[in-house]
Amino acid sequence: MTRKLFVTTALPYANAPFHLGHIMEYIQADIWVRHQRMSGNEVHFVGADDAHGAPIMIAAEKAGLTPQAFVAGIAAGRKQYLDGFHIQFDNWHSTDGEENHALSQDIYRKLKAAGFITSKTIEQFYDPVKNMFLPDRYIKGECPKCGAKDQYGDSCEVCSAVYAPTEVVNPYSVLTGATPVMKSSEHFFFKLSDQQCVEFLRNWALQDNRLQSEVANKCREWLEGEDGLGDWDISRDAPYFGIEIPDQPGKYFYVWLDAPVGYLASLKNYFGKTGRDFDAFMADPSTEQIHFIGKDITYFHTLFWPAMLKFSGYKTPDNVYAHGFVTVSGEKMSKSRGTGISPLRYLDIGMNPEWLRYYFAAKLNAKVEDLDLNPDDFVARVNSDLIGKYINIASRAAGFITKRFNGVISTDWATPDDAFLGNLRQAAPEIQALFEAREYGKALRLAMEQADLVNAYVDANKPWELAKKPENDAKLQEVCSRLLEAFRILTIFLKPVLPQLASQVEAQLNIAALQWSDVATPLPHLHTIHPYAHLMQRVDPKIFDQLFDAPTAATTPAAAESGEGASTAASEIEPVAVEINIADFAKIDLRIAKIVNCEHVEGSDKLLRLTLDVGEGRTRNVFSGIKSAYQPEQLIGKLTVMVANLAPRKMKFGMSEGMVLAASAADEKNNPGLYILEPWPGAQPGMRVG
Ligand code: 2FM
Ligand code: ZN
Repeated sequence: MTRKLFVTTALPYANAPFHLGHIMEYIQADIWVRHQRMSGNEVHFVGADDAHGAPIMIAAEKAGLTPQAFVAGIAAGRKQYLDGFHIQFDNWHSTDGEENHALSQDIYRKLKAAGFITSKTIEQFYDPVKNMFLPDRYIKGECPKCGAKDQYGDSCEVCSAVYAPTEVVNPYSVLTGATPVMKSSEHFFFKLSDQQCVEFLRNWALQDNRLQSEVANKCREWLEGEDGLGDWDISRDAPYFGIEIPDQPGKYFYVWLDAPVGYLASLKNYFGKTGRDFDAFMADPSTEQIHFIGKDITYFHTLFWPAMLKFSGYKTPDNVYAHGFVTVSGEKMSKSRGTGISPLRYLDIGMNPEWLRYYFAAKLNAKVEDLDLNPDDFVARVNSDLIGKYINIASRAAGFITKRFNGVISTDWATPDDAFLGNLRQAAPEIQALFEAREYGKALRLAMEQADLVNAYVDANKPWELAKKPENDAKLQEVCSRLLEAFRILTIFLKPVLPQLASQVEAQLNIAALQWSDVATPLPHLHTIHPYAHLMQRVDPKIFDQLFDAPTAATTPAAAESGEGASTAASEIEPVAVEINIADFAKIDLRIAKIVNCEHVEGSDKLLRLTLDVGEGRTRNVFSGIKSAYQPEQLIGKLTVMVANLAPRKMKFGMSEGMVLAASAADEKNNPGLYILEPWPGAQPGMRVG
């Protein structure tokens, strides 16, 4: 029976380009989807940008863009990655699309009508300068346990303590440096603690093998832990980039409420474009809803999301499949250690996307395990297995068929019980089942074992020897035809992983797109193939020198740990800000400043205190977040450029009277380099820049 499948991958935040972890997840899901399509199932595979939330709103503001324009810029960069790695989503949408606004509000209304929404007034830190409530990550201060300075509002990186932001000592706003004040506000909660919810989740999570066993165990802990499930705060106050809560002006859904609804919204948008009935599809009990996600977001997908759907009367997910993280040579990717990999650089330097698909597939299984990318292993698997065992079969057989037999293959010798090909065909159901179970590594191992048998047949029959004597022509044609049939079957086995290569093979063999059912249908007698053209190059191990980022010199330990290591390729730059006219520009008074002194700021791991001479007959005190890149003594005596007419700002450590200019990448977290500007020789303090 044909299955109806709705498949998604986690929706990436629309504030940065894809990193290798995203690409791995998409490849994992894409392989599964392609396998389903080859099985004749109906599959709808969708993704979207996760557009909302405070970090994106703040990043947009920093870039001088509306949040909508900012996320549109990020969305415009997605296609090159997806096309580049042959990841074939049917649709890519945004959680800021109209479908998501409508669906999220509908789910909320239904939850409310069913009695699952409650409200209470809570006290929260508020930035009196920025006039907004501060998410925990935007508050810093001293750790209440160990006293370490500049720790986040929810946890300490020094002693690992977890605490409430209100416990932080000497808190300050990361956005303005201001001391936050407590302010109360009404928040809305989803009653996850409701007994009906807990019972539903226990059944949902622990039945039908819907979750991997390690994920199901985790859910059991969450559900049966001492504290049980708490109610979930689903609202945020304006200003917030998100979806307004119905009948509650100034209140927005927390981004994690509307993000998974984005799965449905993308499907609805796709169905709208293709004239299908979204409601009927979702109401059909035979529809299967499957989410591929990273292990770090299982809580949201195995508790909040199914409960939200259940109690608003929507279909609940059938499976949630979690995967681990990508490591490089056993370590978390890190730009500073030179193990960051940018997916775009991979493509730009001419590495074949199907090498990576093959490599990831060879290492993937159904467990929640991290996947290590190791260059030696990569080269071995691609060169020895993929090319040495599989591609070589075609190159050894197809040439003779073209040159000696005008491209015509002969299979009049074939009998249904032909043992060699029969064995190969018999491997298909097991390989298919392994793809189904997401055990891609095992599937490829079996396929390669079959390729070994085919190569043994080559060695036993030595077509190059047969070719020496014309009286062996019939035998040569038979051997090579049998090899091409074997190659065709192996191509079916590998097609979910190597779609581009499979389509080249289909073109060369002059056959229609291969499906799993074609395993049983051999190339017909006297079928003509096209001349053989080389299918795939070997990996030159030296290419890895170009792939890895050069280690960065000056980064803080925190920055060094943070990266999945995207580099700033030309196409990844921060979008250019909204256009201004010359009068706007003239308002900014840029001056040459001499750094007459520079020192560390006690208690800050980010700031340096600069004493600047701008030719005014006095000096200015400016705090600058460049400590990660410079030692004070490197800067003393240098000239730089400052914004001289910026309103003075009171910071935790004193007044800052201006700002020095420094270059940094859009994706600062992954690409933390900072470069202060320095004029050419001859410039004098106080000169205007413009
Ligand atoms: O962790 C993340 O990157 C989130 N943007 C994932 C959201 S998945 C879904 F809920 F949209
Ligand atoms: Zn601490």
